[in-house]
Amino acid sequence: MARPIIEPFRIKMVEPIRMTTGPERRAILEKARFNLFAVRAEDVIIDLLTDSGTGAMSAEQWAAMMRGDESYAGARSWFRFEEAAHALTGVPFVFPTHQGRAAERILCAALGLRGRVVLSNGLFDTTRANVEAAGASGIDLPIPGAMDGAGPLAGGIDVAALSRALENHGPRVALVVMTATNNAAGGQAVALDNLRQASAICKTARIPMFLDACRFAENAWAVRRDEPSERGRALEAIAREMFELCDGFTMSAKKDAIVNIGGILGVRDAELATTIREELVRTEGFPTYGGLAGRDLEAIAQGLHEVLDASYLEYRFAASAYLARAMEGAGWPVVRPAAAHAVYVDAGAALPHLEPRDLPGQSLACAMYLAGGVRTCEIGDLMFGSEAAHKQLVRFALPRRVYTQSHVDYVAAVAADVARVRARLPAMRIVDEPRLLRHFTAGLAPSHPFPDIVST
Ligand code: F0G
Repeated sequence: MARPIIEPFRIKMVEPIRMTTGPERRAILEKARFNLFAVRAEDVIIDLLTDSGTGAMSAEQWAAMMRGDESYAGARSWFRFEEAAHALTGVPFVFPTHQGRAAERILCAALGLRGRVVLSNGLFDTTRANVEAAGASGIDLPIPGAMDGAGPLAGGIDVAALSRALENHGPRVALVVMTATNNAAGGQAVALDNLRQASAICKTARIPMFLDACRFAENAWAVRRDEPSERGRALEAIAREMFELCDGFTMSAKKDAIVNIGGILGVRDAELATTIREELVRTEGFPTYGGLAGRDLEAIAQGLHEVLDASYLEYRFAASAYLARAMEGAGWPVVRPAAAHAVYVDAGAALPHLEPRDLPGQSLACAMYLAGGVRTCEIGDLMFGSEAAHKQLVRFALPRRVYTQSHVDYVAAVAADVARVRARLPAMRIVDEPRLLRHFTAGLAPSHPFPDIVST
């Protein structure tokens, strides 16, 4: 009998899950104005809203936290962090930030983006918001069909489109951002060859290329699995090359550093580093702690090391593949191949009675909550607006080292219950919205009440 891939860890500490009933959840969702970000975490049974900052730290990470040195300047923990970041990336200047978006904001400020253009395989929402807030416009150039079975490693940039855009926009292009894995394109990984080509194009055009590296380890594992030339190569070497191809990186440590808070900004250019240092001191903190506690720096240093463990990454990909198969079994089309950090359900395709402006993704996300207290996240028109959204997706994100296979089985069973009523799921309308990043705080309402969703 084939042996299953197991969770390569034991559970030492547990957090109880509070069960809720259908009627309770209906009242909760109405009070939250059909925005799942407004639901209290205690009112959620399985929380697949995000894989960001939601991972379980290891015993070694907790032990490292106890060794945190909270000195203002030159703390021991800073040197441990710097050493770990250098060992992984080889990038000479690294700065701690309180999370990924702070690294993005500081980079945008330091580069002076007003009136300029930023090109990318897919800017994530906060990155796009930071680019736009700095007065630049962000243009996504994903590989065509990235989310329509273009094959593995389809998360990269369309290199022909990149060359054309560099020609068209000329010196207005300030930056190219390669997001690996590409969270805005179904979490598809980026081929090393694609990074190499993009890097060569950028070098010729003398445009800096930065890596949005928050899921670097998951990208490295996908590269090793799916890129024939990289098969069998050490994960550390693949990750190192990803960073070497870039002029710098931003990283939310809340993903592949498996910590609850933190970010990193890394650059090769000494002059840019000086500008960043000034901005960092003004808005985040002294450069040897940059908005984090010493104990956070310790946890990141340890996490950066742990995440490249092959048995962990093998389990991580197996868990998402298992959820993807179960969702398909329940009749939900998913973006293939499944990313490591999430399964993306194509709500637009699954709910053909709803137009994109009816926000089918949000309708499905609300139905999953009503049916079983499962919290997911719409990634479509609500998140990106109708111009930037490529598809109407619902992301079932898997926190790192948190849920077991029976939790995943529960999610699949809830999804099967929702599938039976899917033709009756309502359109969702935005009632009020903020100016930026509307999905976090917008109020919504269904066109008609959600049908009762019962388990069989
Ligand atoms: N880049 C990517 C690709 C991301 O997925 C995120 C966050 C960030 C940057 C920003 O990092 O949250 O530390 O400021 N993504 C989370 C998510 C929020 O749910 O996918 P942050």
